[in-house]
Amino acid sequence: MLFRYLASGLLLGSTAVAVPSPNVKRGASLLPFSTKGRDILDRDGKLFNYVSTNWPGHQEAMIPEGLQHASVEEIVSWFPKLGLNSVRLTFAIEMIDDIYSKSPNQTLERSVLNALGTTNGTIVLNQILSHNPKFSKNTTRLQVFDAVAKELARQDIILHLDNHVSKAFWCCGENDGNGWFGEKYFDVDKWIRGWSYIAKHAKANWPTFSSAGLRNELRNANTAEPVDWYTWYVHMTAAANAVHESDPNALIFFSGLSYDTYIDPIPLGKTLNGTAGKSTAGKTAVFVPSDFPWKDKIVLEIHKYDFENTQDDCETFTSKWYQKGFQALDASNPATKYLFPMVISEWGFIQNGTYWNQTTYNKCLIEMVKKWQVGWQHWELSGSFYLQTRPGRVPATIQGLEEAWGLLNYNWSAVRSPVTVENSLSKMIAALH
Ligand SMILES: *[C@@H]1O[C@H](CO)[C@@H](O)[C@H](O)[C@H]1NC(C)=O
Ligand SMILES: *[C@@H]1O[C@H](CO)[C@@H](O)[C@H](O)[C@H]1NC(C)=O
Ligand SMILES: *[C@@H]1O[C@H](CO)[C@@H](O)[C@H](O)[C@H]1NC(C)=O
Ligand SMILES: *[C@@H]1O[C@H](CO)[C@@H](O)[C@H](O)[C@H]1NC(C)=O
Ligand SMILES: *[C@@H]1O[C@H](CO)[C@@H](O)[C@H](O)[C@H]1NC(C)=O
Ligand SMILES: *[C@@H]1O[C@H](CO)[C@@H](O)[C@H](O)[C@H]1NC(C)=O
Ligand SMILES: *[C@@H]1O[C@H](CO)[C@@H](O)[C@H](O)[C@H]1NC(C)=O
Repeated sequence: MLFRYLASGLLLGSTAVAVPSPNVKRGASLLPFSTKGRDILDRDGKLFNYVSTNWPGHQEAMIPEGLQHASVEEIVSWFPKLGLNSVRLTFAIEMIDDIYSKSPNQTLERSVLNALGTTNGTIVLNQILSHNPKFSKNTTRLQVFDAVAKELARQDIILHLDNHVSKAFWCCGENDGNGWFGEKYFDVDKWIRGWSYIAKHAKANWPTFSSAGLRNELRNANTAEPVDWYTWYVHMTAAANAVHESDPNALIFFSGLSYDTYIDPIPLGKTLNGTAGKSTAGKTAVFVPSDFPWKDKIVLEIHKYDFENTQDDCETFTSKWYQKGFQALDASNPATKYLFPMVISEWGFIQNGTYWNQTTYNKCLIEMVKKWQVGWQHWELSGSFYLQTRPGRVPATIQGLEEAWGLLNYNWSAVRSPVTVENSLSKMIAALH
């Protein structure tokens, strides 16, 4: 999720719930997935489309959000109630680093108190334990993820795991340390080690674990390795190897550059260049799927938000966006060298009851999904956060921040804006057949 400015805290709670679509398939029995041309196929060779929302677990506390307001079971129940078949669950590499260093900070108690301070942390910890009596102060972050994964499986929800950041805080800003290979917090070796560990753990313990999003929203950074497609190729393929060695069944999602807003060089089979005057000068690579043992596991991901408050007509909107990577889905385009499935792994806007109809974004996004039959992952479920730190904002850290873009209300007790869900999320589901 790119930097954006939230409208201040209107509470629009309601008890109404969207009607699940009959089109949506669910469950561990669909796994493993593989790819063929532009499609994701389930175990029986039938088409699968991700229809998900995001559930962040990558911020300071490094546990999934919302547990001070509701139980794991209650939160997971929103996915089927909303008609979704999957979740994009995010995590921070720092969580895995702490496992390797045997840090004492991995318990629920230390995680919450370190993030929120002793006074507020104690209150929030007790709220978490009262909603989730199976947890104790000593439950580790990974055990919380395990409980979430187990419950997702019990409710037939597919788990897509996304590496959102290295250091655990809100993503994403330019030069925030998490953005590009070799940046302040983005240690490439720890990232690959983290994927090796968690993909192996997920394969062994998470029955509906289907897929790995290697890295969210790669972006420019002033102090890092050269920002170019050659560097992307080197590190993304190395991380994909690590995931595949740990779990040969997992799909592997590749995000593009500039906050994952474009990835067209990959389906177009372009030469991936280094940067003149930098350590990658003169170096090139081409991403040829048949080079890799995971050739039938590759999925491209792309993000789309409405920061320009678009009023483009849908023909303009969809043709502009097509150029950013939808060639991957288009066998009729002579410029397309390799077909891949795509997933719109983030889209969303303020759930305030009117925005969905204020710009053409929502309408045209639905048209894009209809036209290209592309899976998607909405941003996001959370009605509020334990806390959010965003460098550059004053104050940088806000505890208990409301998330006006969240599907749920502040207390995670009801859908925030049923009219918005009815006119966006539900229509996005209906757009897939
Ligand atoms: C545990 O967290 C505290 C507070 O953030 C920090 O000062 C300390 O260095 C951490 N310990 C380890 C071993 O990471
Ligand atoms: C938590 O761990 C501490 C230190 O190992 C131990 O003293 C305590 O009994 C444990 N508490 C629970 C509830 O398991
Ligand atoms: C890499 O450089 C070649 C030669 O200049 C160019 O044709 C190609 O489009 C470049 N690749 C990308 C991804 O821009
Ligand atoms: C919803 O948000 C948009 C964009 O910030 C704003 O223009 C609109 O007035 C808001 N609607 C309501 C009901 O607050
Ligand atoms: C808003 O809704 C009205 C009435 O359904 C419709 O005519 C108009 O095109 C919509 N505007 C946008 C931007 O979707
Ligand atoms: C602690 O929580 C209270 C009440 O929610 C809030 O007003 C206060 O800002 C929080 N403290 C910090 C340090 O954020
Ligand atoms: C949310 O929880 C807070 C604290 O318990 C309470 O004051 C508030 O009334 C609740 N709001 C809703 C909409 O349930």
